[in-house]
Amino acid sequence: MPAEKKRVLSGMRPTGKLHLGHLVGALKNWVEFQRQYDCFFMVADWHALMSEYEHPDDLRASTLEMVADWIAAGIDPQRSVIFRQSDVPEHLELYMVLSILTPLGWVERVPTYKEQLREVKGRDLTTYGFLGYPVLQAADILLYQANVVPVGEDQVSHLELAREIVRRFKSLYGQAPFPEPQAKLTPSPRLLGLDGRKMSKSYDNVINLSDEPDLIRKKIQSMFTDPQRVKKTDPGHPETCNLCAYYPVFAPDRTERVWDECRTAKRGCVDNKKELADVLIEVTEPIRRARTERLRDPGQLMLTLRQGAEKARARARETMAEVRRLVGIGATAYEG
Ligand code: TRP
Repeated sequence: MPAEKKRVLSGMRPTGKLHLGHLVGALKNWVEFQRQYDCFFMVADWHALMSEYEHPDDLRASTLEMVADWIAAGIDPQRSVIFRQSDVPEHLELYMVLSILTPLGWVERVPTYKEQLREVKGRDLTTYGFLGYPVLQAADILLYQANVVPVGEDQVSHLELAREIVRRFKSLYGQAPFPEPQAKLTPSPRLLGLDGRKMSKSYDNVINLSDEPDLIRKKIQSMFTDPQRVKKTDPGHPETCNLCAYYPVFAPDRTERVWDECRTAKRGCVDNKKELADVLIEVTEPIRRARTERLRDPGQLMLTLRQGAEKARARARETMAEVRRLVGIGATAYEG
């Protein structure tokens, strides 16, 4: 029998359209992981609800759009388990157990917690539930006994907490039915938003996977470039230019030429923008087509999620049975 493949679990919150940052920062890697791992990709709708609970109206629609984007980008529902967190109630059960054994101090000092309270505007995150955000995330991971969790830099502290929770579980109950998960930092290229800040929906500086060609052109025209280059005849600095940074990511074969022409002032930012818009339209076009196609049949997307949830749930039940046995809660097999 071949050795069992290692397991990957990752998730995204369905809080809006996916953009180029998601594509290069996460999705491309997820697609690759499908080759060598047993993959679980989760729509983290409980996590989304923690910040969107006052206006949860878009969660369902965003979920379907996000799944359409995933599949359009190359996540294969035959190979990987695509599911929605809230369809698998065991997440909350394990979350409860982990909440009980996680010292308050551990969650209070997760750096993202205070940061989000400070930074996120227009939402009241001072709730009991929000403090437990990374504990629920740990439950997501441990429930599937995932070995590897691809995440961005900002999530590393959550993975560290998950690992500490596993050790705590072991010290309390002698063993744990899940391994300590490893964060796998996605080697994400430097891709900033239109204004030179981190690409993020909340900064309104993104190019979405669903953007039509005209919109892409318009957005790229407004893009922030090398501030030291005032006139077209000034030499450019592609190494530090926000726009030039897109070339190695999306058009490696053009990079040398474009950067060279920019440095020697042979081409101006306007030409650069025209060409980049062409490149991005070419890159996103197949994804945009595929997502539109998928969204024409929402029933099929819902079916994909339902089937994914069944597969996920089978695994989740096994883990929970073991957890219940170890912590000594609930009926045992003998009691029926
Ligand atoms: N917190 C993650 C984010 O905002 C989303 C997430 C929820 C997640 N559960 C997860 C990521 C489990 C990895 C594993 O990006």
